[in-house]
Amino acid sequence: MKKIISFLLSICMILSLTLTSCAAEEKQTENNTTIILKIGSPTMTVNGNDMPIDEQGTVPVIVNGRTLLPVRAVVEQMGGTVDWNGETQEVTLIYGEDEIKLTIGSTEALLNGEKQTLDVAPTVTNGRTMLPIRFIAESFKFKVEWNEREQSVTITNTKTAVENPAKQLEEMKEPTSKSLVVYFSATGNTKVLAEKIAEESGSDVFEIVPKEPYTSADLNYNSDCRANDEQNDANARPAISNKLENLEDYDVIFIGYPIWWGTMPKIINTFLDTYDLSDKTIMPFCTSGSSGISSSVSAIKSACSNADVKTGFRGTSGTTSTQIRTWLTDNNFSDAIIRK
Ligand SMILES: Cc1cc2nc3c(=O)[nH]c(=O)nc-3n(C[C@H](O)[C@H](O)[C@H](O)COP(=O)(O)O)c2cc1C
Repeated sequence: MKKIISFLLSICMILSLTLTSCAAEEKQTENNTTIILKIGSPTMTVNGNDMPIDEQGTVPVIVNGRTLLPVRAVVEQMGGTVDWNGETQEVTLIYGEDEIKLTIGSTEALLNGEKQTLDVAPTVTNGRTMLPIRFIAESFKFKVEWNEREQSVTITNTKTAVENPAKQLEEMKEPTSKSLVVYFSATGNTKVLAEKIAEESGSDVFEIVPKEPYTSADLNYNSDCRANDEQNDANARPAISNKLENLEDYDVIFIGYPIWWGTMPKIINTFLDTYDLSDKTIMPFCTSGSSGISSSVSAIKSACSNADVKTGFRGTSGTTSTQIRTWLTDNNFSDAIIRK
């Protein structure tokens, strides 16, 4: 009898060990979550499986360049929890040891009790609480990538990257190649943005200085001014007075300019014609009254067909470092820098 009991006990122990190891494997899988959300689509993809974002078919939207959506399902798929307090209009999100508190209509958030400023306030649209997913996912230390072409956001658990010692070591190495911010600014707005981008990206700076400086009369676009004449002349290539001697030192070239008549000033064409940017990574940026950057990015792509031209960034002299860092991350800036 004793033998039978001891045999049964052994079986139980083996079974319980097997189940524990299965649970551990499941946990491991949970750690490798990848969630893809698409602007305008009510469905998200979680580790390759489609599921609704909410039961009402709400779709992610972009407000002030930030993706907002009802986050409950996303956060739960990430392994966190969401608690809504209708009285205080407050949302509490918890993942592991991290806690985020957001309030409808307020750009002030609390991350583990510390004040943070959001680019865009949470809102209620059609009865749904729309929250900024990048802030939430990044606060929970998930990696967030924006794909401009697909208009999609990919959220991945960065744990795998951290657990990848080779990648971690790679990121700790000193960059051997460098980045350069090249810019032209007629009235100073682009100069301020260029300097901020240089600081955030650790780049050197080269200012394109026109041989013939632009006077305010030259820039008076309501008249028949020099700037207008140049923009209307496909062959205009205003001369540059200074020379960039060490282009070969750089792998990533930021190119900044004001928008003139919907595109880049012709002096930028002079720069692109003068220097060979083949095989460089180009990160275009601009300031403007209101026009977007896309036409000038297309013009840069045509002028530099052998370069890898990334998504353009329209900023202002008031652009924050967070906005610049988001643009850098979304365009895999650090991957473009070769490390030794
Ligand atoms: C000749 C000229 C044309 C311009 N055309 C546009 C335009 O098409 N769209 C726009 O939003 N702003 C336009 N602007 C405004 C500038 O893009 C804006 O003021 C920019 O921030 C100036 O940058 P800067 O101070 O670096 O020169 C124009 C300005 C000038 C002088």
